[in-house]
Amino acid sequence: MFTPYQHEPLTDFTVEKNQRAFQMALEEVSNHLGKEYLLVIGGKRITTTEKVVSINPANKEEIVGIVSKADKRLADQAMEAALKAFETWRKEKPEARAHILFRAAAILRRRRHEFSAYLVKEVGKPWKEADADTAEAIDFLEYYGRQMITLQHGVPVLSRPGERNTFHYIPLGVGLVISPFNFPLAIMAGTTVAAIVTGNTVILRPSDRAPIVAAKFVEVMEEAGLPPGVLNYLSGGEAEVGEYLVEHPKTRFISFTGSRAVGCRIYERAAIVQPGQKWIKRVIAEMGGKDAIIVDKDADLELAAQSIVVSAFGFSGQKCSACSRVIVLEDVYEQVLNRVVELTKQLIVGDPEKPSTFMGPVIDETAYNKVMHYIDIGKQEGKLMTGGEGDSSKGFFIQPTVFANVDPNARIMQEEIFGPVVAFTKAKDFDHALNIANNTEYGLTGAVISRNRPNFEKAREEFHVGNLYFNRGCTGAIVGYQPFGGFNMSGIDSKAGGPDYLLLHMQAKTVSEAF
Ligand code: ALA
Repeated sequence: MFTPYQHEPLTDFTVEKNQRAFQMALEEVSNHLGKEYLLVIGGKRITTTEKVVSINPANKEEIVGIVSKADKRLADQAMEAALKAFETWRKEKPEARAHILFRAAAILRRRRHEFSAYLVKEVGKPWKEADADTAEAIDFLEYYGRQMITLQHGVPVLSRPGERNTFHYIPLGVGLVISPFNFPLAIMAGTTVAAIVTGNTVILRPSDRAPIVAAKFVEVMEEAGLPPGVLNYLSGGEAEVGEYLVEHPKTRFISFTGSRAVGCRIYERAAIVQPGQKWIKRVIAEMGGKDAIIVDKDADLELAAQSIVVSAFGFSGQKCSACSRVIVLEDVYEQVLNRVVELTKQLIVGDPEKPSTFMGPVIDETAYNKVMHYIDIGKQEGKLMTGGEGDSSKGFFIQPTVFANVDPNARIMQEEIFGPVVAFTKAKDFDHALNIANNTEYGLTGAVISRNRPNFEKAREEFHVGNLYFNRGCTGAIVGYQPFGGFNMSGIDSKAGGPDYLLLHMQAKTVSEAF
């Protein structure tokens, strides 16, 4: 037996003991940087001559680790290993599979600050964001483990006299998990273990921008007792090998988190039935967002400003849930804008290893150039209120940037920037605000700050997003509490960390026996 699920509490870094412990973890991790992590295929470590180097985005000189670069031959080997392991893993008791997740959660808890310190180093997360990422990974393990135990017996169906009908879930096969850099522990682990606990085997392709945290997580799963071949780690060679596996006839499903462009490409390629393929591939895709916060005229304006700043600039805006559009009723527009600008100017931007830092760098040079390009576009499309500057001499730092008076159809109001840039626009009334909010191809998160009950109810019906928040920001969904995932071009309408997520990784079987 085990206790009911509860989310993992976050670390309180105002407590000196916790600060010291985290500082020590950072120092300890610094002593282990630059190591090489090998591919894992069928439980065997495999090295290649070509490598991917993972660097610290806050300090380009610092190598966090090195991984091997997989190729198509190794992808085939990984597929063979995963297919072989599937034959036994699919028959493993769901309860036993779940217990591996619970043990992995316990290991992560023990090594919590170490993992968070790697997140600081590998993707430039400030302490709080890194800690939340690790906590969320623990949550996924605990939540999906319990969920599988609940689902293992299937759902009761009716039987007539003289027959006995059952309805239960079986796994799909080999899943390709392609994970993003922005939650390199939580989303990587969540998507991987959802596939594993349901009885599938996995080829994990972590982001080339954050392969080290993923390699360390594979070690955790091994320590927790996962048999060889169930989780195969295939770093490097991102596009080529990824595409090869998406198209592979033996791939049964693909679980992808990342950009809209890549998600749509995967969806397209996976739809083509290859010679020798015996099934219709399933694609689970969580893609981008262009998330809006609406501020009503009677709102708590301080709450609004605080929520906007945290949602827009947390982890440098590199969240699909980040607030990139602010829609304010004209009555309070100037007040909210001015307060957001004031708060933004107070943010501490810089080295994520310092406990006081609110915002670190963006992930790499490509991201830096892309965001700076959007800032140039923003200067044409709106009024730059603060920020707008970048410095990539040591790391990829961009000042948190606020644009005012932007047309709802402007590019910076429509295209996902994935950086610390937020645009303000004015609405005549609440209906107009909702219209603007829905004026996007995405539909991931949104928030309404108001004191007006009818307006909340209108938003509940009309604001078309997968995660809608009232009187709070639009980031930071908690596993099991706020199941997470978006509509429209934000994905396939699924909800990670929700009661029906695991079903996406299974197929239902009806057995009817006549007596
Ligand atoms: N699940 C993450 C959030 O809610 C992306 O911010």
